[in-house]
Amino acid sequence: MAEVRYFSKSGNTKVIAEAVAVAAGTEAKDISVPVEAGAGVLFLGGAVYAFHIAGKLKKFIKTLPPQLSGKVAVFSTAGNPGGASHLIKKQLVKRGITPIEREFHCVGEKVKDEAMQKQAADFAREIVGQ
Ligand SMILES: Cc1cc2nc3c(=O)[nH]c(=O)nc-3n(C[C@H](O)[C@H](O)[C@H](O)COP(=O)(O)O)c2cc1C
Repeated sequence: MAEVRYFSKSGNTKVIAEAVAVAAGTEAKDISVPVEAGAGVLFLGGAVYAFHIAGKLKKFIKTLPPQLSGKVAVFSTAGNPGGASHLIKKQLVKRGITPIEREFHCVGEKVKDEAMQKQAADFAREIVGQ
């Protein structure tokens, strides 16, 4: 079964996490909930704060089972259109987890746009359908 975990300070990434979770047929949970080694695809989301991802998200990534290599899909929100996915992926690689190449990013102020929600859902379905 697919898992969704996110870190969100002000709620933007949570909105995307929930759209992803619905499309993937699962529930979005924050990073206080660990991920088991036997999990299916893991959708992992975060945001940029002062050019970095949150320290708590970095710590969470260090707890992920390396067996998830090849099974983690990253999504992010940020003020800039570049997003946080590359920063999250860097931490995954450090942990020995190769992320899925396909990623999703949304500018923070657009998370509630219907078109963005649909893109997030399409991203999730594409990954789960692989
Ligand atoms: C304290 C703070 C620092 C931020 N720094 C950056 C930044 O360096 N680069 C950027 O693109 N966005 C920055 N942002 C914008 C957030 O990445 C954006 O609002 C994001 O959607 C927040 O996600 P969240 O609501 O899930 O916490 C910052 C926001 C806050 C509140």
